[in-house]
Amino acid sequence: MVEAFSGVRVRVPAKINLALCVGPCRPDGFHDLATVFHAISLGDEVRAQARPDAQIVLTMAGRGEGEVACDQTNLAVRAATALRDRHGRADLGIQMHINKQIPVAGGMAGGSADGAGALVACNAVWGLGCSDAELSAIAADLGSDVPFSLMGGNALGTGRGERLTPLPGGPALRWVVAVARGGLSTPRIYRVFDEMVAAGRATASAEHPRELMAALARGTAAEIAGLLTNSLQAPALECLPALRETLEVGRQAGALAALVSGSGPSCVFLVDDDSQQNAVVVALSQLDQVKDILTATGPVSGPRAERLEA
Ligand code: C5P
Repeated sequence: MVEAFSGVRVRVPAKINLALCVGPCRPDGFHDLATVFHAISLGDEVRAQARPDAQIVLTMAGRGEGEVACDQTNLAVRAATALRDRHGRADLGIQMHINKQIPVAGGMAGGSADGAGALVACNAVWGLGCSDAELSAIAADLGSDVPFSLMGGNALGTGRGERLTPLPGGPALRWVVAVARGGLSTPRIYRVFDEMVAAGRATASAEHPRELMAALARGTAAEIAGLLTNSLQAPALECLPALRETLEVGRQAGALAALVSGSGPSCVFLVDDDSQQNAVVVALSQLDQVKDILTATGPVSGPRAERLEA
């Protein structure tokens, strides 16, 4: 069925937060952030073609199959609906298929990637001609990470993460990703962060990670490694203590740095070369709490629609 698919194909990258500095909880329940997003070569693929009826239909294969609902709650379906509504075109239909490689509920913006991919794919299939700015505004309504999933590369994110300043250049970085068994809920991790701040066990600060940004502009992987930081790592470790061992085993195996990705529970390891990468993969493969191990490089560019022949 997938072979017979015509229309467009869009590859959308996962993200790692090289720095995730979380400020106090705002009155609207979100937290102000200063984060450095980094798009990596691990990604989902969204294929889409027009439907003659007005239905928005999604199927999924790969890592999300059977795990992720394909109904109105799915960000890809919500993205297609929002784009259509904005143009007053309830008559437009779309058939989408997602091949999911990004871990589900893993802290790597897998759901956001699918939302961004759907926006790019539907814009192309429906010929709406939306500008990047227009897509980005719809993306921000869908979720805090969706605008970055549209942009790719490296970027500073402020506000709830939706206000972006591109950080061009930056060295190529190599990663090992340890996918944990089960996922963590992002709202829960933010709640635990607030509790830790209230108890004086964590500090809320959305100060810009200037040293990291400077190192990205001119530095090496080793310099960047020393500056990776994540305010949500401590709450993620509190909710899933086995992650401590995952991080430690990767470090012992020679990774330049080990970090929980976003709100977790995926852990990411920055490595220098093939032999370091292999050593980290072998060491992590011994751990029961690690479901899967992936490798990736970054930064990579954001999603573009590619036409498929029938
Ligand atoms: O924006 P998104 O839907 O991805 O956010 C999911 C949840 O994560 C929010 O409902 C909120 O609890 C938390 N969040 C937050 N501050 C942010 C981003 C997300 O508290 N900047």
